[in-house]
Amino acid sequence: MRPIVELRPIVEAAAVSRSYGARLAVDGIDFALCPGELTFLVGPSGAGKTTLLKLINREIRPTTGQLWVAGLPAHLVKPSRVAELRRKVGVVFQDFKLLPRLTAAENVAFGLRVVDLRLSDQEARERSLDALEAVGLGDRGDAFPHQLSGGQQQRVAIARAVVAQPPVLIADEPTGNLDQETAWEIMDLFEDIAAWGTAVLVATHNVEIVTRLKRRVLTLVHGRLVRDQPAGQTGRMAWLASS
Ligand SMILES: Nc1ncnc2c1ncn2[C@@H]1O[C@H](COP(=O)(O)OP(=O)(O)OP(=O)(O)O)[C@@H](O)[C@H]1O
Ligand SMILES: [Mg+2]
Repeated sequence: MRPIVELRPIVEAAAVSRSYGARLAVDGIDFALCPGELTFLVGPSGAGKTTLLKLINREIRPTTGQLWVAGLPAHLVKPSRVAELRRKVGVVFQDFKLLPRLTAAENVAFGLRVVDLRLSDQEARERSLDALEAVGLGDRGDAFPHQLSGGQQQRVAIARAVVAQPPVLIADEPTGNLDQETAWEIMDLFEDIAAWGTAVLVATHNVEIVTRLKRRVLTLVHGRLVRDQPAGQTGRMAWLASS
């Protein structure tokens, strides 16, 4: 049965390639991400996962092809308009990248300041505490990063990434520094964020989680998209054989 409201993709890649000098890191990729969808990006080390995420965030530009993010052409965007595109994309890293001298709430507020410089301190704090509440840390707003566990620090980083409600969230190996139980909690959070309507793309090597969650899986090998497995299927992790 077709959905009553057909969702339009929020990210669309058409024949996207990216080279570093002579090395082709992403090779002619086509895919689309829709709002409300949690998608895993898997593949052996060096397959091009981080490169693909950086393209979506317009940290780098495609060498060829077209990449549309929230209606903006990331393949064309001039440096002067990069900030506009980046506001559409929340980013989560393996090593959290929190500012050590700021509290959890101040770190999250940083995510708001980037989007809206006119926001009052009080409003920024209230919205940051709301975001921390949403990730299960409502009572830790005044804690500094070193006073939090790795999983809690990653929750703060996720709150910072989503506090301005970007339509797209990308995460590069977000559970790589966490134990498996904590990794599951973080993935639960990504499922919640997708359920709020965000398109979430998570690059990961965590085979157990990818296999058990049965979400959509994009597999990259040598820069090529070799498999696009829809949600609900249990696929062979084809890339394992080549990793
Ligand atoms: N800044 C760069 N300059 C030159 N080559 C690069 C650069 N970044 C990545 N590469 C190369 O591009 C290819 C893809 O790298 P990428 O980091 O995207 O892989 P990955 O799938 O994220 O790997 P991993 O699972 O180890 O994180 C690799 O061959 C890598 O060596
Ligand atoms: Mg990587």
